[in-house]
Amino acid sequence: MTPSDCSVQLFSFTILALWGWQFNKQLKQLTEKQTLLNNSLLQPISTLKTTLDSLAYQQVNLQQHIVQENKILQQQVIQQSNQLTETLSSQYEAHFVDFIHNLTATINGTESEVNNQPVQLENQIQAEEYDPKNPPKADCFSGHYTDWTIKRVRRIIQHFGADFFAGKRILDLGCGYGHVGSLFAHLGATVVYSDAREAYSEEVLKRDPSGTFVRADLDNEFPFEGQFDLILNVGVLYHLSKLDAFIERCCKATAYMVLETEVCNSSDPNLVLYTEEEGYDQAFNAKGSRPSSAYVEAQLRQHGCLAEALADDSCNSSFHRYDWAVDESTTYEHGLRRLWFVQTPLAKKPKAKPSKKATKETATIGIVGIKAPAVAKKKQGSSVKN
Ligand SMILES: C[S@@+](CC[C@H](N)C(=O)[O-])C[C@H]1O[C@@H](n2cnc3c(N)ncnc32)[C@H](O)[C@@H]1O
Repeated sequence: MTPSDCSVQLFSFTILALWGWQFNKQLKQLTEKQTLLNNSLLQPISTLKTTLDSLAYQQVNLQQHIVQENKILQQQVIQQSNQLTETLSSQYEAHFVDFIHNLTATINGTESEVNNQPVQLENQIQAEEYDPKNPPKADCFSGHYTDWTIKRVRRIIQHFGADFFAGKRILDLGCGYGHVGSLFAHLGATVVYSDAREAYSEEVLKRDPSGTFVRADLDNEFPFEGQFDLILNVGVLYHLSKLDAFIERCCKATAYMVLETEVCNSSDPNLVLYTEEEGYDQAFNAKGSRPSSAYVEAQLRQHGCLAEALADDSCNSSFHRYDWAVDESTTYEHGLRRLWFVQTPLAKKPKAKPSKKATKETATIGIVGIKAPAVAKKKQGSSVKN
């Protein structure tokens, strides 16, 4: 190797060493920068993570707190509603006792002049209910049935006046054991009792030996002779399925009628819900119905009747209610009832002028001559017990 070669090599090494040194220096700087960068990123990330952890922890705490608060609130609501129910029940009880006292006082005061029988009748129904020798024949006619029947009969007597019944001819349709009709026999009426079930007749005639029992399936026949002063059409219409024909036959056979039935919650004058029924006091043909009140009223109008619908709570008893407002749910529920005092064209003189304005106790719905829609929508309902 010549000296000049050595110089070249030395020069090359020196250059290479310088380049390497420079490279290392830059690499070191880069590494430092990267470390700085990492540190500056890692720090906020870890802070963020800590914050998130703390938030998650707070959220869990908050949820637990909410659940706890909810439980406390629920307990408070239950406690308050229990207290409210107790207060209301005692107020209702007091109101009810007052109501009965006032009504009894009215009946005693005004009607004892004519005859004290309404009060005696109540005693009689009570005695029947509690007489161990004569226990109620079946569930339908026991329990709150006594209270309910007293209220309905008392309201009917109030409507017509206690002296109306003497000498009158009354037809008690779907009479069951004749609880309702026989009370009017005590007020001097002659009562024809009718039910599809012959089995009731013995008990009916024991209750009212002066009465007559006619077995009739009211969905298919109306075998009664002559005209009646009053038809007691109580708790039977909704056990029938051929309503139009039945209502028409009733309207043509009497001057007055008390029409009481379960109905569905609708103001559609075409609506009748049909139901399947079974039981000793249910539809004889296993098919019942829940017409809307509007349907019944339309039928009555069609036959030239005036009708006043009971609008107060005087006949409410247990789950049986008359003073409810239609909410168009188009359903029926057990105990949703209506009662009308009906005057047919056979009534010689209108008993009372129909008021234009609805009163608190009754609301006049009938106007002679208004034609009602004729066709009923048929809907199938579910099975119901009375
Ligand atoms: C819920 S009870 C009402 C009894 C009574 N009117 C009262 O309010 O206490 C219904 C009555 O209607 C009778 N019934 C059911 N379907 C009938 C039908 N197709 N023809 C005649 N009566 C019927 C039953 O036998 C039963 O006695």
